[in-house]
Parts: sequence; C-alpha cells; structure tokens
Amino acid sequence: MGHLNDIGNAILDVVRAEEAGLIAVRRDLHAHPELSFQEVRTAGVVAAELARLGIACRTGVGGTGVIADIQGGRPGITLAIRGDMDALPIEERTGLPFASQNNGVMHACGHDVHTSTLLGVAAILKRLAPEMSGTVRLLFQPAEEVLGGARAMIAEGALDGVDMALGYHNHPDIPVGSFGAVQGATYAACDRFRLVVRGVSGHAAYPQTTVDPIVAAAHLITGLQTIVSREVGAIDSCVVTIGAIHAGTVHNIIPDSCELLGTVRTLTDSIRERAEQAVFRFCAGLETSFRTPCDLDWNPGVPPTLNAPHVLETSVAAIRRQLGDVFVAGEPSMGAEDFSLIASAVPSFVLRIGSGTPGRSDQLHNSGYQPDEACIALGATALARAALELMARYSNPR
Ligand code: NI
Repeated sequence: MGHLNDIGNAILDVVRAEEAGLIAVRRDLHAHPELSFQEVRTAGVVAAELARLGIACRTGVGGTGVIADIQGGRPGITLAIRGDMDALPIEERTGLPFASQNNGVMHACGHDVHTSTLLGVAAILKRLAPEMSGTVRLLFQPAEEVLGGARAMIAEGALDGVDMALGYHNHPDIPVGSFGAVQGATYAACDRFRLVVRGVSGHAAYPQTTVDPIVAAAHLITGLQTIVSREVGAIDSCVVTIGAIHAGTVHNIIPDSCELLGTVRTLTDSIRERAEQAVFRFCAGLETSFRTPCDLDWNPGVPPTLNAPHVLETSVAAIRRQLGDVFVAGEPSMGAEDFSLIASAVPSFVLRIGSGTPGRSDQLHNSGYQPDEACIALGATALARAALELMARYSNPR
C-alpha cells in the first residue's frame, strides 16, 4: 500500500465525486423498498451501479443477493464486506418527498443506506485496486430482517475462499460523524418460539367442567420471566419476550387453546442453551400443574455476533487514521444480526456507523425513522479505509 496520506486523500477524492450520486441511489431505494427475499428491483439497481463502476457481479445469489469481487493489484487475502438490502412491513410516516411508494413497506432500518454505502465502498476500492493486496468481495445481502439472507448466501458459496469479513449497521443512537466498536459480543443471539397451550373449552360460568388454557398461559408468561431473574446471573444478559398472545372470542366461553409467540435474546452460547432448556421445562411443567399440554415449536435463529479482537483493532486504528478520534463508547445490543453467521465462519468486525441527527430521537423500525444521509459517505470512507489496512496487514503478516 502506498503512503498513508496518499491513500487517505485518494479515498476522499472518490467520496467527494460520488457522494451526491450515492444519496440519489439511496433515495431511489427508499422510495421503492422491497421486503425480504423480494429485493429484485434493488438488486437490479445494485448491478447497474456496479456496471457503471466497471465491476462485474453475480446476481440471484441466495435468492436476490448480489456478489461482486474487486481484485487488488497484489496477491493477498480475501475480505468480504456485507451490506443488507431489505425493508420492513411498516407504513411510512416521514412525509419525505422520496417516501415509500410501496404501501405498507418501508426502509425503516436504513438498509437503503447500507446498500448505498456498499456501493460507495465499491467505487473507492475499484479506484484504489492497484494499491490493494488481495480481493474484496462485496456481499449485497437480501432478507436480513427475517434472519434468512446470510444463511442463503453462504449456502451458495458466498464465503468460499473468504478469510475475514466486515459488517456494519447505521446507529441513530450515535451522532452522525461518530462510530462505535464493541469488543466481543456486539449483537445478541435471537431464537423464536411459538407455543400452543391446549385446554378443553366450555362455559365461562362452569370452569370446573373445562380446562382453561388462558389461566395456564398467564402463569406461563410470568413464569418465563423468572428465567431472566432467577436462572441467569445478574451479570449475564438474557431477554425473554412474549410478543403475541391469541385466544378466545367472547366473555362467556373458555376457549380450547391459547397461542403465544415469543423470542429469547442472549449474548453467549451457554446462556442461550440454558434459556432454551428452561422454556421447554416450563412448557412441560404446565401439563402437570394445569392439565394443559403445551406444544412448543422452537425456531433457532442466529448466534451472537462476535467481533474478532484483531479485526476490530486493526479496523479502528485505520478509521482513526482516516477520520480522527471518531469512536464513542458503546455496549452490546440485545438486537440480532444475521451477519453473526458470517462472523461465526471467519474472523469479523461489525462497525456501528453513527446516523443520528442532533436534536432528533430517531429509532430503528419506527415509521418516522430518518437516518442522517451524511452517514453514507462517512461509512463508505471508514469501511474502505479499514478494508485496505486489513488486507495490507494480513496479506503480509509481520
Ligand atoms: Ni437492520
């Protein structure tokens, strides 16, 4: 790699030239959001932008994913950088001129920004490719919101030959211009479950002639909370949430069954296993206590997302050289990321890119969410610099 100042200036030159175009792409994607595994138009925009940059790509990977390799001028490792592309089933209420034109679908998690950011990385690294050691593999991933896209792309070879990976997410809790890097587990494991408490229906006035699944479910819901308070240590982290409950029709009928939908979030494999076993135990005990057999359908999601110390440290140092002292303290999030499947396969780091506007209290998955668009150029700059230094360093181990 050339002189560090030269690299920094070259990155800035590309970003200055591309920023307006990247924002235009982001606004176009924002106006045309697509749900998980339906990112057909989005993938088309990505392929067209890559073609404009002179970068060949493979489309239809893992459904609607796009993969593009940029070869460096020198041999070295292969570094994957992943950006997700899907939107959410939310009715947009931002009132923006480029608001969603698809009713009930919105880029409320900023994956439009992520897609545009990765195109910015592509532009920078294509320009600097002669200076680069190794190969960068850009992964434009579908279906992160349903935790399905990473698995689908990996199954179709997205990580074949990959040595290391970078991920990123916009963070409205971090002011734009600042970044976050969390040691160890940065995002949680996510498992989901559906359970049906089975009773015997009858007249509400004669509960003794019925087996009431609603009373049993009420005990179960409060009992499950004791997994966190009584079975997991206070220093460890675990969330058990019942997000939906469905039972009954009217006031004078005890129904036959009660359905519950829930999720468990944990930061380590051992707490994850322990929580799962406890949910099964509570369900099994319900029949003994309340005469209500319980069908539990456990849907394993994704493991915790772990940052590899050496990838994190090299990336943070590189970004500081490019942008200055831009990192703010952060803590693990109990939200989940299917990038965790990539981070489980190769040493990885997820960069948190500040997208918050001072004076606003935006939240991801909110119908009014507006990331500060300056985060696109800043994110692309940071990721490209981190990638260049990771590849220089680990292609030529010292
Ligand atoms: Ni997201």
